[in-house]
Amino acid sequence: MTTLHSGPDTVYDVLGIGFGPSNLALAIAVHEHNATAPEGERLRAGFVERQAGFGWHRGMLIDDATMQVSFLKDLVTMRDPTSDFSFLCFLREQDRLVDFLNQKTLFPLRVEFHDYFAWAAARLAHLVEYGSEVVAVRPVVEDGEVRWFDVVSRAPGGDGEPTVRRTRTLVVATGLEPHLPPGVVPSGHAWHNSELLPRVAERVRSGEPVRRAVVLGAGQSAAETVDYLHRSFPEAEICSVFAKYGYTPADDSPFANRIFDPEAVDLFHGAPPAVKQALHDYHRSTNYSVVDLDLIESLSRTMYREKVQGTQRIRMLNVSRLREVTRRPDGVRVTVEFLPTGEEQVLDADLLVYATGYRPRGMGDNLGEVAKVCLRDDEDALRVGRDHRVETVAHVSAGVYLQGGTEHTHGLTSTLLSTTAVRSGEILTSLLAHRPVPAPTGPAAEHASA
Ligand code: FDA
Repeated sequence: MTTLHSGPDTVYDVLGIGFGPSNLALAIAVHEHNATAPEGERLRAGFVERQAGFGWHRGMLIDDATMQVSFLKDLVTMRDPTSDFSFLCFLREQDRLVDFLNQKTLFPLRVEFHDYFAWAAARLAHLVEYGSEVVAVRPVVEDGEVRWFDVVSRAPGGDGEPTVRRTRTLVVATGLEPHLPPGVVPSGHAWHNSELLPRVAERVRSGEPVRRAVVLGAGQSAAETVDYLHRSFPEAEICSVFAKYGYTPADDSPFANRIFDPEAVDLFHGAPPAVKQALHDYHRSTNYSVVDLDLIESLSRTMYREKVQGTQRIRMLNVSRLREVTRRPDGVRVTVEFLPTGEEQVLDADLLVYATGYRPRGMGDNLGEVAKVCLRDDEDALRVGRDHRVETVAHVSAGVYLQGGTEHTHGLTSTLLSTTAVRSGEILTSLLAHRPVPAPTGPAAEHASA
């Protein structure tokens, strides 16, 4: 449903592509700024989101999965602990503050944090158009200068009339997309873990038994998938295939965790490329191909218990690679190679789940025309300032900010939630600093509803 202005008279100060946690946090920062700023200093903001409503990794909202970041790193607290968009204010509204406190944890359920995000998003619904995918962005030139971008969106997959909105600044926060190995085409029997919950629910509903499932990968999502399939299909054998010897724990120890501090972003951004690479390599075990220790221990206990009972249903095919996958009418046939010996075994499975990670969506092909005005470094990566603003060629006053897809400039926090609140504050400060003077007047800023 269209809720944002799109007429020729409307020029946005900031238009966000995507309305996940990153741009939601920015929307809150702008909203709070507008609430106290004099009229001429308010920002007209709007956000375009392709999902039909707010949703954060819905396919992985496993009932008992918990956040991997403290609730204090919510949408606002690290920027402004007094904001009423905090997780604690959400809890108070749900009448669960005391109950949460009694859990003695910093790490809420993932389902609960999703509800928190959705609660915050609902309060800013007038700033968002859902069910609308940005398919193109065109620089608009006046007097030889790129002053605005025209952002073209339409219903996902639809061929309906596109909507065009003009903005002085673009904030791209399109997040991560599921990554499948090259050549893999998902099917009813083989899919990415991002679809876990709906696919499992569908299979359970169909009544078709699952005798064996194969899960490829050794990261958090892979381990969660093994555990969830094991619980969901009590008769099934779950085979976990990965190249490592065993799952390795995520490093969330206090000193390593400092890599996610705002100060670490300052340091990273100013460091030479070799130091950046070294920091990334030293600390990738805070996030990549690692599993929460609790889950590792729980899976290990389950495996041992089943061994004692003589009903082992979890099989670790470690130091192994998937060599071949062929479709069968009612499933898949996978060939797994044990790397130390080269020995191969063939498994018939009802399900094959690719827990093969996510990749940043980046600017995407549909933003190609904007990419042409952006500067790139020697590695052909975008040059992004500390304020998250992409450096552009001469004669461009319109701005592009990135939230995510900036690991090469801002480090490991780029795709995570750790600095979401602080980053939004930094972008807001930069937006205000780049605001043309004198400030334009016009219809009430932020009032985006038609
Ligand atoms: P996010 O991907 O959430 O949102 C991007 C939005 O843009 C989506 O809603 C998408 O639909 C929309 N979009 C994309 N292209 C568009 C287009 N062309 N037009 C319009 N809309 C478009 N991190 C962490 O710090 N702690 C944690 O506990 C977790 N947990 C976690 C669990 C799972 C299962 C995953 C997969 C990831 C995490 N993460 C995480 C990392 C995760 O990236 C992070 O939590 C946020 O999702 C990042 O928020 P963003 O808003 O940047 O992207």
